Amino acid sequence: MPQLVSLFNAVGGGAAALIAIDDYLGLNGTATLPTLQVNVATVLDIVIGSITFTGSLIASGKLMGLRITPSKPVMIPGGQLVTAGLALIVAAGALYLWAGNLSLPVMLLILAAALVFGVTMTLPIGGADMPVVISLLNSFTGTAVAMAGFVLDNVVLIIAGALVGASGAILTKLMADAMNRSVLNIMVGGFGGGEGTISAAGGPGGSVRAVSADDVAIQLAYATNVIVVPGYGLAVAQAQHAVRELAELLEARGVNVSYAIHPVAGRMPGHMNVLLAEANVPYPQLKEMDDVNPEFERTDVALVIGANDVTNPAARRAGTPVSGMPILDVDKAKSIIVIKRSMGRGYAGIDNELYVNPKTGMFFADAKAGLAELIAAVKAV
Ligand code: TAP
Repeated sequence: MPQLVSLFNAVGGGAAALIAIDDYLGLNGTATLPTLQVNVATVLDIVIGSITFTGSLIASGKLMGLRITPSKPVMIPGGQLVTAGLALIVAAGALYLWAGNLSLPVMLLILAAALVFGVTMTLPIGGADMPVVISLLNSFTGTAVAMAGFVLDNVVLIIAGALVGASGAILTKLMADAMNRSVLNIMVGGFGGGEGTISAAGGPGGSVRAVSADDVAIQLAYATNVIVVPGYGLAVAQAQHAVRELAELLEARGVNVSYAIHPVAGRMPGHMNVLLAEANVPYPQLKEMDDVNPEFERTDVALVIGANDVTNPAARRAGTPVSGMPILDVDKAKSIIVIKRSMGRGYAGIDNELYVNPKTGMFFADAKAGLAELIAAVKAV
């Protein structure tokens, strides 16, 4: 889905830029100067639409994990200088055109610089930080469309574009804050550049403890407080109904069950909320990261289902692709159970040291099949 959203962003941004380019080509060769309002909107439309077009194509490729656009950060030599130089070309060209000059070569120079800017802006961003850039590009699409509305004198486009631009900007700010990043950082240099295996990141090594459904069922059935931590794997396995069934079973035994929702768990903003709402999980049981984190210390079992990066303590150290990203403090729970199929990595492509924590039991299973086993085992306790 995010790949598709990103492709739609590219199409939207590209279409908006084409409108302005077409308008500009129509003016070229005539002596008619557009009004300042249209002139400003035309140039902004070309710039923002072009950045969105190439930036979104790269983002989509990264989300697909294409070989030419790997999902890890790709550092361009002198990247920040190149980006700053491109921004300078765009700014100088825009000022020249806004001063009342009609020039096709300058417009083409701005176009080329903006197209390359989209690439250099997006390539260095990697892994866990991609949601922020996708949201930012979504906001750009809306803004470019609003500018196209000014160029075409079309009020509907202006309103629709402004709504998408503004809501995308708010979402970007919220997500950037949730990830402990600044939006300016995204624009001028990317972030999260570490490579980060457990050893490379300086984290602890250790052995992994595999547990069976019966072991987990006993822990869950005799717990007082259980926090479920859903992630991308829960969504892939479509295990939302099974997790609700397990929670109801536990509640019937007097266990308090709640769900910890990380703002970028899954692959879309609000992914976990939508998924759990579909399974009729009561809304009050869903707890935002900041509200639920202090509760882990009082939690008997943190049940992590198909979540990985959003629980990785490596985020608390410098030098890893998830450094600085706030995480769910799952490791503070008295006991941790992780349901996933293997020791496979998450979206950020790094090992998770939570799995070698002595308090952690790994229940290796597909989320849906594993939960079905757990439900049967809890019924038998
Ligand atoms: P991830 O870190 O991507 O980890 C998901 C885990 O689910 C994997 O390690 C995988 O391990 C497991 N899994 C996959 N299929 C499974 C199945 N059928 N049953 C059980 N487990 C399964 O997920 P997360 O913790 O939710 O973090 C989200 C990541 O995506 C973050 O890095 C975030 O930045 C990024 N992202 C988020 C968004 C938004 S807006 N939410 C958008 C783009 C990217 P196994 O292979 O071992 O099973």
